[in-house]
Amino acid sequence: MSIAPFPYSSVADRATAGSLLHVVGQDLRVPLVGGGEARYANLDYGATSPALATVAERVTRVLPYYGSVHRGSGLPARVSTALYEQSRASVARFVGARPDDLVVFTRNTTDALNLLASAIPADAGDVVFLDSEHHANLLPWRRRGHRAVAVAPTLDETLRRLRAALAAGPAALLAITGASNVTGELVPLERIVALAHAAGARVVVDAAQLAPHRRVDVAALGADYLALSGHKLYAPYGAGALVGRADWLDVAEPYLAGGGAVREVTWEGTDWHDGPARHEAGTPNLLGAVALAQACETLDTLAPGALEAHESSLRELLLARLERLDAVRVARIWSDSEGAIGTVAFVVDGYAPGHVGAYLSAEHGVGIRDGRFCAHQLLGVLGLDPAHPGALRASFGVGTSSDDVERLARAIERLVVEGPHRAYTAGPDGWAPVGDDRPLPELL
Ligand code: ALA
Repeated sequence: MSIAPFPYSSVADRATAGSLLHVVGQDLRVPLVGGGEARYANLDYGATSPALATVAERVTRVLPYYGSVHRGSGLPARVSTALYEQSRASVARFVGARPDDLVVFTRNTTDALNLLASAIPADAGDVVFLDSEHHANLLPWRRRGHRAVAVAPTLDETLRRLRAALAAGPAALLAITGASNVTGELVPLERIVALAHAAGARVVVDAAQLAPHRRVDVAALGADYLALSGHKLYAPYGAGALVGRADWLDVAEPYLAGGGAVREVTWEGTDWHDGPARHEAGTPNLLGAVALAQACETLDTLAPGALEAHESSLRELLLARLERLDAVRVARIWSDSEGAIGTVAFVVDGYAPGHVGAYLSAEHGVGIRDGRFCAHQLLGVLGLDPAHPGALRASFGVGTSSDDVERLARAIERLVVEGPHRAYTAGPDGWAPVGDDRPLPELL
């Protein structure tokens, strides 16, 4: 069956001035406490990113054809099946997968890494990882034989410790995050893959934060697996992916037992599929897969280096403003790291992170994240403010403009000089202004 390509309009020209691509919600207006409103400055892409306009358009276009994938004879079912497999091919292209790599659609990176953890052969050896990892790239491995390596203050020393841990006994896998979800710092993946392979271990890259911000090429990198999330890649429709070597996945117990994962079920036993279907039981998330594929295709249209240049200029702008303030401390894991995605974690002395987050939202219409970012152990290592656990994190991407970053910088400068203009209190759901009078949208 051939499917006519969707005639995408160029959406870049409809994006907010200064941003790279048009994302849904870029013009959202939000109420401020005490009256008035502001355009919402979304600086929380690290938690979950807005949908690209092309993604929302694509999903709307597909919806009338929505049907059952790999089950059904009606035209929508046939179209849906073809779209689902076409989406798999788009994701494979986007990450530079090898021809024989599998692309398994999952819910997100957490799901993908749990799937891989379940597929490692029992006798293959331990999983080696840094103890500072995001929980998705930490907790699945702690359920089986593992060696957790203490992160060091320099990347050089951290790599030396990883090499020593890999040499300490049979290692099946080295699990490493490509870009920190807390500080944005990048790791030298080529060097890490080389040292793991030299020890006979495979490598999985947690690319949840990396893939939306940097081009990744699994084959060129030599990594064995890569995990990513659609909801951080401008496609928040519930799909992610595990990409990589087929052998372990083809013989592992199916991650989910159920329909679609089987060739034949009899009273005597079950003949499981191999390939991605083995781990995709249940009705596939067609819209999630289509959305993820469209995001990959749209990001692929950016000129080489455009994404990096956009984020670097925003990051430098924010750092220059924050580092001028004595009361602000910016987090960094490694003193010798080079390069970071558009993510900056910091604390403001004298204020709990949640207090600052509530102030930014209520008085300035700026959204960032506060807390420990699903990386509790790393936040402990960073030891930013013993009086107030956690930190603030601004994170941005293709829909962010310098105006968004300026507004955050100005709001923090005002906080440091004048303090908040309202009273705030910490409750069971976090910090909030006292007498919050902001109306919620009719949606609720
Ligand atoms: N792990 C996501 C974050 O970094 C949710 O915010």
